[in-house]
Amino acid sequence: MNQTTGTASLDLSFVRAQFPAFAHHETGFWAHLENAGGSYVPRQVVDLLAELFAHFKCQPAWDFGPSVAATEAMDRARTVMAELFNAGQDEIHFGPSTSQNTYVLAHAMRPMWNDGDEIIVTNQDHEANSGAWRRLDRTGITVREWRVDPQTGCLDLADLVPLINQRTRMLAVTHASNIAATINPVREMADMIHAVGGHLVVDGVSYAPHGLTDVKAAGCDVYLYSSYKTYGPHVGMMYTDADLLARMTNQGHYFKQGDPVAYLTPAGPDHAAIGATAGIADYYDELHRHHFGSSTASRFERTRELFDLFGAHEQTVIEPLIDLINAAPDVHLVGAPVADHSVRAPTVAFHTPRQSSESIYRALIDAKVSCGFGNFYAHRLMEALGLDIDDGVVRLSAVHYTTDEEVARACEVLDQVFSSRLG
Ligand SMILES: Cc1ncc(COP(=O)(O)O)c(C=O)c1O
Repeated sequence: MNQTTGTASLDLSFVRAQFPAFAHHETGFWAHLENAGGSYVPRQVVDLLAELFAHFKCQPAWDFGPSVAATEAMDRARTVMAELFNAGQDEIHFGPSTSQNTYVLAHAMRPMWNDGDEIIVTNQDHEANSGAWRRLDRTGITVREWRVDPQTGCLDLADLVPLINQRTRMLAVTHASNIAATINPVREMADMIHAVGGHLVVDGVSYAPHGLTDVKAAGCDVYLYSSYKTYGPHVGMMYTDADLLARMTNQGHYFKQGDPVAYLTPAGPDHAAIGATAGIADYYDELHRHHFGSSTASRFERTRELFDLFGAHEQTVIEPLIDLINAAPDVHLVGAPVADHSVRAPTVAFHTPRQSSESIYRALIDAKVSCGFGNFYAHRLMEALGLDIDDGVVRLSAVHYTTDEEVARACEVLDQVFSSRLG
């Protein structure tokens, strides 16, 4: 608790003490600003995964002890994931990744539609929520594209209106792009697409580290999430509304027809990795207890309270970087030019015609700032912005464990780079 105001603020030392990477001799000295690619993992997840591999790495669903424990671990993961997204347990599907989940989903949904029906995709999305849908044009579906503003990389709801008609069956869109980071208005998009009987498929992968989503209240029919972006193992998870699932075609083995959990899981899943996703909730619980004491609130409410702390910290920590980029001549921030957490995630992607993204990236790496450059699988967004596909943007991204010092190191380098204009 903050003594003066009586309100909690994030105890960063406690937070960072949960992550072995920060104490490690090879990782600890980096200013780690490559979190949008995948976050570090807290000990709650590491320990759970190690325990599942060491003691319970066997086929679940039998009656011998380790198998019972493996089953319980997977069931628990499903329960906590359902609670974190305010979904029903049968609406949660695990798969190897979001890219593979959309691939499966496209096959499961195509039979719901007739030739000549229409779907809408964007040129802002990561290819994971784009390519699998676009390929349906080979099967008689008309694919329409909702395009970003080529200056800002942002989507405008006004441009969506003329794309929707009585034949529109689905809109696939990101909650917050992994480059533009600007939060798209999910509830409004849901209302627009539902008005013509269509479905909303939201890629929540980049948003999930920064905000909790009540998938029902937001009106999502499908919500996609990858747990390696939120301190977990590399597992894809998707929520699918129960009524929609009932209309999809089974993608599991034929004899799994009536089993909602196997319906969208064509292969045997990675049991231990799925079980270990529950460690994310254990981590959130430990942080919640530390900041707020014991609580009888639901998991969703507790985690929302915690995410309010995350959000306040993320906004403060990223502000100097956004200010620096906004002030630098000829440097373009992709997405809304503000740090406001209700408007954008703390992911900062920028480009400048005066220098290659790679040269800026190299200067940051030399100063031990973890970051990346390029297209980050948002090829179409790079094209829309008129950027070289390979050189793309420089991307620096924070999460709640990021420190002011890490961002300050990046700012120092960028300040020098922008004033010296390296080639
Ligand atoms: C916004 C977004 N969507 C989807 C993906 C793909 O997720 P996966 O690696 O689980 O396929 C990523 C990965 O970076 C992403 O940033």
